[in-house]
Amino acid sequence: MAAIRFGLIGAGGIAEYTARELAGHPDAAIVAVADPSEPRARALADRFGVPAVLAHHEALLVRDDVDAVYVAVPNSLHAPLACAALEHGKHVLLEKPFAMNATEATAVAAAAERNDRVLMLGMNQRFDPAVQRARALVEQGSLGAVYHTRAFWRRRAGIPRIGSWFTSRAAAGGGALLDIGVHMLDATLHILGEFEPASVTGAAFTRFGNRGLGDGSWGRSERSFDTFDVDDFATALIRMKSGAVVSLDAAWALHQEAMEERGIELYGEDAGLSVFGNRLYQRDADRSFVTRQGLPAGPLAFPHASRVHHFVNVLLGREAPVVTVAQSLAVQRILDAIYTSARTGAEVRL
Ligand SMILES: NC(=O)c1ccc[n+]([C@@H]2O[C@H](COP(=O)([O-])OP(=O)(O)OC[C@H]3O[C@@H](n4cnc5c(N)ncnc54)[C@H](O)[C@@H]3O)[C@@H](O)[C@H]2O)c1
Repeated sequence: MAAIRFGLIGAGGIAEYTARELAGHPDAAIVAVADPSEPRARALADRFGVPAVLAHHEALLVRDDVDAVYVAVPNSLHAPLACAALEHGKHVLLEKPFAMNATEATAVAAAAERNDRVLMLGMNQRFDPAVQRARALVEQGSLGAVYHTRAFWRRRAGIPRIGSWFTSRAAAGGGALLDIGVHMLDATLHILGEFEPASVTGAAFTRFGNRGLGDGSWGRSERSFDTFDVDDFATALIRMKSGAVVSLDAAWALHQEAMEERGIELYGEDAGLSVFGNRLYQRDADRSFVTRQGLPAGPLAFPHASRVHHFVNVLLGREAPVVTVAQSLAVQRILDAIYTSARTGAEVRL
Protein backbone atom coordinates (compact mmCIF):
# COMPACT_ATOMS: atom_id res chain seq x y z
CA MET A 1 0.00 0.00 0.00
CA ALA A 2 1.25 3.48 -0.83
CA ALA A 3 2.28 5.53 2.18
CA ILE A 4 0.44 8.71 1.14
CA ARG A 5 -2.96 8.46 -0.55
CA PHE A 6 -4.00 11.49 -2.57
CA GLY A 7 -7.28 12.97 -3.71
CA LEU A 8 -7.17 15.43 -6.61
CA ILE A 9 -9.65 18.31 -6.55
CA GLY A 10 -9.78 19.66 -10.08
CA ALA A 11 -8.91 17.69 -13.20
CA GLY A 12 -7.96 20.55 -15.53
CA GLY A 13 -4.78 21.46 -17.40
CA ILE A 14 -2.29 21.45 -14.54
CA ALA A 15 -3.73 18.46 -12.67
CA GLU A 16 -2.46 16.20 -15.41
CA TYR A 17 1.16 17.24 -14.76
CA THR A 18 0.73 16.74 -11.02
CA ALA A 19 -0.88 13.34 -11.51
CA ARG A 20 2.11 12.28 -13.63
CA GLU A 21 4.53 13.35 -10.89
CA LEU A 22 2.50 11.61 -8.18
CA ALA A 23 2.44 8.46 -10.29
CA GLY A 24 6.23 8.68 -10.41
CA HIS A 25 6.67 8.74 -6.63
CA PRO A 26 7.09 5.25 -5.15
CA ASP A 27 5.29 6.17 -1.91
CA ALA A 28 2.26 8.03 -3.28
CA ALA A 29 -0.99 6.93 -4.92
CA ILE A 30 -4.01 8.75 -6.31
CA VAL A 31 -7.17 7.18 -4.92
CA ALA A 32 -9.82 9.67 -6.05
CA VAL A 33 -10.41 12.64 -8.33
CA ALA A 34 -13.24 15.18 -8.04
CA ASP A 35 -14.35 17.62 -10.73
CA PRO A 36 -17.83 18.83 -11.68
CA SER A 37 -16.77 18.11 -15.27
CA GLU A 38 -17.30 14.35 -15.50
CA PRO A 39 -15.42 13.99 -18.81
CA ARG A 40 -12.31 15.74 -17.47
CA ALA A 41 -12.34 13.75 -14.21
CA ARG A 42 -12.94 10.50 -16.07
CA ALA A 43 -10.18 11.18 -18.61
CA LEU A 44 -7.64 11.84 -15.85
CA ALA A 45 -8.77 8.78 -13.88
CA ASP A 46 -8.47 6.56 -16.95
CA ARG A 47 -5.01 7.87 -17.79
CA PHE A 48 -3.62 7.32 -14.29
CA GLY A 49 -5.71 4.38 -13.08
CA VAL A 50 -7.55 6.34 -10.38
CA PRO A 51 -10.29 4.13 -8.88
CA ALA A 52 -12.81 6.79 -7.74
CA VAL A 53 -14.31 9.54 -9.92
CA LEU A 54 -16.44 12.04 -8.03
CA ALA A 55 -18.56 15.01 -9.07
CA HIS A 56 -18.18 16.98 -5.85
CA HIS A 57 -15.16 17.77 -3.66
CA GLU A 58 -17.17 17.07 -0.49
CA ALA A 59 -17.54 13.41 -1.50
CA LEU A 60 -13.74 13.24 -1.75
CA LEU A 61 -13.06 15.03 1.52
CA VAL A 62 -15.22 12.67 3.63
CA ARG A 63 -13.24 9.61 2.48
CA ASP A 64 -11.04 7.92 5.07
CA ASP A 65 -8.69 6.60 2.39
CA VAL A 66 -7.55 10.13 1.43
CA ASP A 67 -4.58 11.46 3.45
CA ALA A 68 -3.75 14.52 1.37
CA VAL A 69 -5.37 16.57 -1.37
CA TYR A 70 -4.06 18.54 -4.28
CA VAL A 71 -6.27 21.56 -5.01
CA ALA A 72 -6.15 22.81 -8.62
CA VAL A 73 -9.33 24.76 -9.25
CA PRO A 74 -10.17 28.36 -10.28
CA ASN A 75 -8.52 30.85 -7.93
CA SER A 76 -11.77 31.99 -6.27
CA LEU A 77 -12.20 28.42 -4.97
CA HIS A 78 -8.67 28.06 -3.55
CA ALA A 79 -9.46 29.38 -0.06
CA PRO A 80 -12.87 27.72 0.44
CA LEU A 81 -11.74 24.30 -0.83
CA ALA A 82 -8.37 24.38 0.92
CA CYS A 83 -10.11 25.34 4.19
CA ALA A 84 -12.68 22.56 3.73
CA ALA A 85 -9.92 20.00 3.12
CA LEU A 86 -7.94 21.12 6.17
CA GLU A 87 -11.08 21.02 8.36
CA HIS A 88 -11.55 17.42 7.18
CA GLY A 89 -8.05 16.66 8.45
CA LYS A 90 -6.34 16.42 5.04
CA HIS A 91 -2.89 17.77 4.23
CA VAL A 92 -3.08 20.24 1.35
CA LEU A 93 -0.88 20.95 -1.65
CA LEU A 94 -2.48 24.10 -3.04
CA GLU A 95 -1.97 25.60 -6.47
CA LYS A 96 -0.84 29.20 -6.82
CA PRO A 97 -1.90 31.91 -6.24
CA PHE A 98 -2.51 31.28 -2.54
CA ALA A 99 -5.96 32.94 -2.67
CA MET A 100 -7.83 35.94 -4.07
CA ASN A 101 -6.15 38.16 -1.46
CA ALA A 102 -4.14 38.05 1.77
CA THR A 103 -7.25 38.08 3.98
CA GLU A 104 -8.42 34.82 2.43
CA ALA A 105 -4.91 33.37 2.53
CA THR A 106 -4.63 34.16 6.23
CA ALA A 107 -7.85 32.21 6.88
CA VAL A 108 -6.41 29.17 5.06
CA ALA A 109 -3.18 29.43 7.07
CA ALA A 110 -5.23 29.55 10.29
CA ALA A 111 -7.19 26.43 9.24
CA ALA A 112 -3.90 24.56 8.70
CA GLU A 113 -2.65 25.59 12.11
CA ARG A 114 -5.94 24.77 13.86
CA ASN A 115 -6.05 21.29 12.35
CA ASP A 116 -2.31 20.65 12.62
CA ARG A 117 -2.05 19.73 8.93
CA VAL A 118 0.66 20.46 6.36
CA LEU A 119 -0.29 23.23 3.94
CA MET A 120 2.05 24.00 1.06
CA LEU A 121 1.80 26.14 -2.06
CA GLY A 122 2.90 24.29 -5.18
CA MET A 123 5.65 26.69 -6.25
CA ASN A 124 7.23 24.55 -8.96
CA GLN A 125 9.75 27.19 -10.07
CA ARG A 126 11.62 26.87 -6.78
CA PHE A 127 12.56 23.33 -7.72
CA ASP A 128 13.90 24.25 -11.17
CA PRO A 129 17.59 23.25 -10.99
CA ALA A 130 18.57 26.76 -12.13
CA VAL A 131 16.70 28.30 -9.19
CA GLN A 132 18.17 25.74 -6.80
CA ARG A 133 21.67 26.57 -8.07
CA ALA A 134 21.04 30.32 -7.74
CA ARG A 135 19.78 29.93 -4.17
CA ALA A 136 22.91 27.96 -3.28
CA LEU A 137 25.20 30.59 -4.85
CA VAL A 138 23.50 33.45 -2.99
CA GLU A 139 23.55 31.46 0.26
CA GLN A 140 27.28 30.78 -0.20
CA GLY A 141 27.85 34.52 -0.68
CA SER A 142 29.21 34.11 -4.22
CA LEU A 143 27.49 37.29 -5.43
CA GLY A 144 28.17 39.40 -2.35
CA ALA A 145 25.18 41.46 -1.15
CA VAL A 146 22.51 41.43 -3.88
CA TYR A 147 20.98 44.90 -4.16
CA HIS A 148 18.95 44.63 -7.36
CA THR A 149 16.97 41.88 -9.10
CA ARG A 150 15.09 42.00 -12.39
CA ALA A 151 12.45 39.28 -12.53
CA PHE A 152 10.17 38.87 -15.51
CA TRP A 153 7.87 36.47 -17.32
CA ARG A 154 6.64 38.02 -20.55
CA ARG A 155 4.70 36.32 -23.34
CA ARG A 156 3.93 37.69 -26.76
CA ALA A 157 0.53 35.97 -26.98
CA GLY A 158 -0.02 33.67 -24.00
CA ILE A 159 -3.29 34.58 -22.33
CA PRO A 160 -4.84 31.40 -20.90
CA ARG A 161 -8.08 30.62 -22.77
CA ILE A 162 -9.84 33.99 -23.17
CA GLY A 163 -13.37 33.78 -21.71
CA SER A 164 -12.52 31.02 -19.23
CA TRP A 165 -12.35 31.69 -15.46
CA PHE A 166 -8.70 32.81 -15.91
CA THR A 167 -9.82 36.09 -17.52
CA SER A 168 -12.63 37.01 -15.11
CA ARG A 169 -11.73 39.10 -12.07
CA ALA A 170 -14.55 37.51 -10.06
CA ALA A 171 -13.20 34.00 -10.68
CA ALA A 172 -9.45 34.65 -10.88
CA GLY A 173 -8.88 37.76 -8.73
CA GLY A 174 -6.32 39.05 -11.23
CA GLY A 175 -4.56 38.21 -14.47
CA ALA A 176 -0.93 37.88 -15.55
CA LEU A 177 0.40 39.05 -12.18
CA LEU A 178 -1.42 36.35 -10.21
CA ASP A 179 -0.84 33.70 -12.86
CA ILE A 180 2.84 34.02 -13.77
CA GLY A 181 4.12 37.08 -11.90
CA VAL A 182 3.58 35.14 -8.67
CA HIS A 183 6.09 32.50 -9.80
CA MET A 184 8.90 34.94 -10.57
CA LEU A 185 8.26 36.93 -7.39
CA ASP A 186 8.23 33.81 -5.21
CA ALA A 187 11.34 32.35 -6.85
CA THR A 188 13.20 35.67 -6.54
CA LEU A 189 12.48 36.11 -2.83
CA HIS A 190 13.44 32.47 -2.28
CA ILE A 191 16.77 32.96 -4.08
CA LEU A 192 17.42 36.15 -2.08
CA GLY A 193 16.37 34.38 1.12
CA GLU A 194 14.35 37.45 2.03
CA PHE A 195 10.55 37.75 2.33
CA GLU A 196 10.20 41.09 4.11
CA PRO A 197 9.02 43.91 1.86
CA ALA A 198 9.04 47.56 2.92
CA SER A 199 7.06 49.14 0.08
CA VAL A 200 5.59 48.48 -3.35
CA THR A 201 4.81 50.57 -6.42
CA GLY A 202 2.91 48.91 -9.24
CA ALA A 203 0.92 49.41 -12.43
CA ALA A 204 -1.43 47.05 -14.26
CA PHE A 205 -2.89 47.20 -17.77
CA THR A 206 -5.58 45.46 -19.82
CA ARG A 207 -4.66 46.05 -23.46
CA PHE A 208 -4.96 42.77 -25.40
CA GLY A 209 -7.49 40.30 -23.98
CA ASN A 210 -10.24 42.92 -23.85
CA ARG A 211 -9.85 43.24 -27.64
CA GLY A 212 -9.85 39.46 -28.12
CA LEU A 213 -6.09 39.48 -28.85
CA GLY A 214 -3.26 37.42 -27.36
CA ASP A 215 -5.01 34.11 -26.70
CA GLY A 216 -2.67 31.25 -25.78
CA SER A 217 -5.42 28.69 -25.07
CA TRP A 218 -3.94 27.15 -21.90
CA GLY A 219 -6.48 25.46 -19.61
CA ARG A 220 -9.39 23.08 -20.08
CA SER A 221 -12.30 25.01 -18.58
CA GLU A 222 -15.16 26.26 -20.72
CA ARG A 223 -15.17 29.78 -22.17
CA SER A 224 -18.17 30.92 -20.11
CA PHE A 225 -17.28 34.52 -19.17
CA ASP A 226 -18.11 37.47 -21.45
CA THR A 227 -15.99 40.13 -19.80
CA PHE A 228 -12.18 40.26 -19.84
CA ASP A 229 -11.47 42.37 -16.76
CA VAL A 230 -8.02 41.27 -15.52
CA ASP A 231 -4.50 42.57 -16.20
CA ASP A 232 -2.63 41.20 -19.20
CA PHE A 233 0.45 43.19 -18.15
CA ALA A 234 1.64 44.28 -14.71
CA THR A 235 4.87 45.78 -13.47
CA ALA A 236 6.17 46.64 -10.02
CA LEU A 237 9.10 47.88 -8.00
CA ILE A 238 9.38 46.16 -4.62
CA ARG A 239 11.65 47.68 -2.01
CA MET A 240 12.77 45.11 0.56
CA LYS A 241 13.49 45.90 4.23
CA SER A 242 17.17 45.11 3.58
CA GLY A 243 17.24 47.97 1.06
CA ALA A 244 17.44 45.65 -1.97
CA VAL A 245 14.97 46.33 -4.79
CA VAL A 246 13.17 43.85 -7.05
CA SER A 247 11.67 44.88 -10.36
CA LEU A 248 8.94 42.54 -11.60
CA ASP A 249 7.20 42.29 -14.99
CA ALA A 250 4.38 39.86 -15.81
CA ALA A 251 2.86 39.83 -19.28
CA TRP A 252 0.38 37.45 -20.85
CA ALA A 253 0.59 39.51 -24.04
CA LEU A 254 2.95 42.22 -25.24
CA HIS A 255 4.29 43.57 -28.53
CA GLN A 256 7.76 42.03 -28.36
CA GLU A 257 9.99 39.77 -30.43
CA ALA A 258 10.22 36.71 -28.17
CA MET A 259 7.32 34.27 -27.82
CA GLU A 260 8.22 33.95 -24.18
CA GLU A 261 10.89 35.42 -21.89
CA ARG A 262 11.30 34.20 -18.34
CA GLY A 263 14.19 35.54 -16.33
CA ILE A 264 15.66 36.38 -12.98
CA GLU A 265 18.76 38.59 -13.15
CA LEU A 266 20.58 39.22 -9.89
CA TYR A 267 23.03 42.08 -9.35
CA GLY A 268 25.33 41.77 -6.34
CA GLU A 269 28.34 43.71 -5.09
CA ASP A 270 30.75 40.95 -6.16
CA ALA A 271 28.98 39.35 -9.13
CA GLY A 272 25.83 39.27 -11.25
CA LEU A 273 23.86 36.14 -12.14
CA SER A 274 21.48 35.27 -14.95
CA VAL A 275 19.55 32.48 -13.21
CA PHE A 276 18.02 30.68 -16.19
CA GLY A 277 20.95 31.60 -18.45
CA ASN A 278 23.20 30.00 -15.81
CA ARG A 279 25.81 32.74 -16.30
CA LEU A 280 27.83 34.53 -13.67
CA TYR A 281 29.31 37.98 -14.38
CA GLN A 282 32.43 38.97 -12.43
CA ARG A 283 35.72 40.82 -12.60
CA ASP A 284 38.88 38.82 -12.16
CA ALA A 285 41.79 39.74 -9.90
CA ASP A 286 43.30 41.77 -12.78
CA ARG A 287 39.91 43.60 -13.03
CA SER A 288 39.01 42.19 -16.43
CA PHE A 289 35.36 41.31 -17.05
CA VAL A 290 34.56 37.58 -17.14
CA THR A 291 31.44 35.60 -17.85
CA ARG A 292 31.33 32.08 -16.45
CA GLN A 293 28.88 29.61 -17.95
CA GLY A 294 27.47 26.53 -16.23
CA LEU A 295 28.49 27.16 -12.68
CA PRO A 296 28.94 24.36 -10.22
CA ALA A 297 27.07 25.06 -6.98
CA GLY A 298 27.41 21.64 -5.38
CA PRO A 299 24.76 18.92 -5.46
CA LEU A 300 21.15 20.06 -5.81
CA ALA A 301 19.15 20.32 -2.57
CA PHE A 302 16.21 18.67 -4.38
CA PRO A 303 17.52 16.42 -7.16
CA HIS A 304 13.96 15.31 -8.03
CA ALA A 305 13.24 18.94 -9.06
CA SER A 306 9.59 18.37 -8.20
CA ARG A 307 7.25 20.27 -5.89
CA VAL A 308 5.03 17.17 -5.79
CA HIS A 309 7.82 14.83 -4.69
CA HIS A 310 8.91 17.46 -2.18
CA PHE A 311 5.40 17.63 -0.66
CA VAL A 312 5.19 13.84 -0.38
CA ASN A 313 8.68 13.69 1.13
CA VAL A 314 7.74 16.38 3.67
CA LEU A 315 4.69 14.35 4.72
CA LEU A 316 6.95 11.32 5.09
CA GLY A 317 9.43 13.31 7.19
CA ARG A 318 12.19 12.91 4.60
CA GLU A 319 12.60 16.58 3.63
CA ALA A 320 12.12 19.85 5.54
CA PRO A 321 9.51 22.14 3.92
CA VAL A 322 11.15 24.68 1.65
CA VAL A 323 7.95 26.58 0.77
CA THR A 324 6.56 27.84 4.07
CA VAL A 325 3.12 29.28 4.73
CA ALA A 326 4.67 32.47 6.12
CA GLN A 327 6.62 32.99 2.89
CA SER A 328 3.53 32.38 0.77
CA LEU A 329 1.56 34.89 2.86
CA ALA A 330 4.31 37.45 2.32
CA VAL A 331 4.14 36.88 -1.45
CA GLN A 332 0.34 37.29 -1.42
CA ARG A 333 0.62 40.56 0.54
CA ILE A 334 3.03 41.93 -2.06
CA LEU A 335 0.67 40.92 -4.90
CA ASP A 336 -2.22 42.66 -3.10
CA ALA A 337 -0.06 45.76 -2.67
CA ILE A 338 0.86 45.82 -6.37
CA TYR A 339 -2.83 45.85 -7.30
CA THR A 340 -3.59 48.50 -4.67
CA SER A 341 -0.77 50.69 -5.96
CA ALA A 342 -1.93 50.15 -9.54
CA ARG A 343 -5.43 51.28 -8.58
CA THR A 344 -4.46 54.29 -6.46
CA GLY A 345 -1.34 55.40 -8.29
CA ALA A 346 0.50 55.63 -4.95
CA GLU A 347 3.24 53.68 -3.23
CA VAL A 348 2.01 51.13 -0.67
CA ARG A 349 4.01 50.78 2.56
CA LEU A 350 3.98 47.32 4.10
N1 LIG B 1 1.93 25.84 -10.91
C1 LIG B 1 1.70 26.15 -12.17
O1 LIG B 1 2.63 26.34 -12.93
C2 LIG B 1 0.29 26.25 -12.66
C3 LIG B 1 0.05 26.15 -14.03
C4 LIG B 1 -1.28 26.26 -14.45
C5 LIG B 1 -2.30 26.46 -13.54
N2 LIG B 1 -2.02 26.58 -12.22
C6 LIG B 1 -3.08 26.83 -11.24
O2 LIG B 1 -3.86 25.63 -11.10
C7 LIG B 1 -5.22 25.96 -10.91
C8 LIG B 1 -6.02 25.26 -12.01
O3 LIG B 1 -5.57 25.71 -13.27
P1 LIG B 1 -5.76 24.85 -14.60
O4 LIG B 1 -4.82 25.42 -15.57
O5 LIG B 1 -5.75 23.42 -14.30
O6 LIG B 1 -7.25 25.33 -14.98
P2 LIG B 1 -8.35 24.54 -15.82
O7 LIG B 1 -9.37 25.55 -16.17
O8 LIG B 1 -7.69 23.77 -16.91
O9 LIG B 1 -8.94 23.49 -14.78
C9 LIG B 1 -9.67 23.85 -13.63
C10 LIG B 1 -10.51 22.65 -13.26
O10 LIG B 1 -11.16 22.90 -12.00
C11 LIG B 1 -12.44 22.29 -12.09
N3 LIG B 1 -13.31 22.75 -11.00
C12 LIG B 1 -14.05 23.87 -10.91
N4 LIG B 1 -14.73 23.87 -9.73
C13 LIG B 1 -14.40 22.73 -9.07
C14 LIG B 1 -14.76 22.15 -7.81
N5 LIG B 1 -15.59 22.76 -6.97
N6 LIG B 1 -14.23 20.96 -7.47
C15 LIG B 1 -13.38 20.32 -8.28
N7 LIG B 1 -13.00 20.81 -9.50
C16 LIG B 1 -13.49 22.01 -9.87
C17 LIG B 1 -12.90 22.67 -13.49
O11 LIG B 1 -14.02 21.91 -13.91
C18 LIG B 1 -11.63 22.38 -14.28
O12 LIG B 1 -11.59 21.05 -14.73
C19 LIG B 1 -5.32 27.47 -10.94
O13 LIG B 1 -5.28 27.93 -9.64
C20 LIG B 1 -4.05 27.91 -11.65
O14 LIG B 1 -3.60 29.18 -11.22
C21 LIG B 1 -0.74 26.46 -11.77
